Amino acid sequence: MKVAIVTGGSSGIGNHLCQRLAAQNYKVAILDVEEKDGLDLCNNLNQTYGSGSCIFCKCDVSDETSFKKSFEMTIKEWGKIDILVNNAGLWDDSPEGWRKSIDVNVKGIISGSLLAIQYMGMNHGGNGGIVLNVASIVAFPVCPVLPIYSSTKAAILKFTRDMGTEHQYQLHGIKFITMCPHATGGSKLFRNSEKKFIFNDENFVKPFYAGKFGVLQSVDNVAQGIMESLHKGENGSVWMIEDEKGARKIEIPEIKVKEFV
Ligand SMILES: NC(=O)c1ccc[n+]([C@@H]2O[C@H](COP(=O)([O-])OP(=O)(O)OC[C@H]3O[C@@H](n4cnc5c(N)ncnc54)[C@H](O)[C@@H]3O)[C@@H](O)[C@H]2O)c1
Repeated sequence: MKVAIVTGGSSGIGNHLCQRLAAQNYKVAILDVEEKDGLDLCNNLNQTYGSGSCIFCKCDVSDETSFKKSFEMTIKEWGKIDILVNNAGLWDDSPEGWRKSIDVNVKGIISGSLLAIQYMGMNHGGNGGIVLNVASIVAFPVCPVLPIYSSTKAAILKFTRDMGTEHQYQLHGIKFITMCPHATGGSKLFRNSEKKFIFNDENFVKPFYAGKFGVLQSVDNVAQGIMESLHKGENGSVWMIEDEKGARKIEIPEIKVKEFV
């Protein structure tokens, strides 16, 4: 029996990932602030794959107490956790919303990763496992239209690579993997987009809508790519998914600096 936690599992990519995990006999804990959709999905999975296949934990990943409680609920249900997918995230670069983007996208992912070490790490009596953190392709290019969202994703990429070293693995036995999906349709991320840019200026945001994304890939394609990288991904590996194709490993050129460790 394998147990997976998926944050942001109520909708979009996370929802499809929970479905795919359950279909492969994983026990799934859905963690999300969005209760109704999460409970609906959880009930569906329990009906399809048998009761006890799934639990829903109402959880705000930016609130450490709430996040910790969800880990404890999962351990209480199945006795262990093998995989954590830190997928919950939001885009809001507006003057009112940007702090929340950092709280959820950066602090939430770091908090989840540290809780994973506490509950899964061999240095804490656990069996090790996998933490997959969902960043975005916008972590790489200069991104003037989404500077705050893209910086949160760059922070996830950096943090996850730093955690995914042999030095760390020897300690806790958890593989850290980064997933960087390209633009994806069918999720709630870009809803109410006109209110979420850093500047409310039509000419400034025009390039964002210029159609350069092409046809958006589906949330299920991304979920499938995450499954692939969970099965194949080495510690510290970075993956991208685009154009409705499978997951592809990215090699990031190293800039040589004096070694720190
Ligand atoms: N859609 C894209 O184009 C795209 C591309 C690259 C990366 N991503 C990333 O993929 C992940 C999933 O996004 P999506 O496109 O499926 O969007 P989505 O909005 O449909 O899903 C995000 C989920 O996270 C949940 N969530 C938000 N804040 C939360 C919090 N504080 N605590 C717990 N749950 C919370 C939401 O309720 C929602 O269910 C995000 O991290 C997003 O940044 C999306």
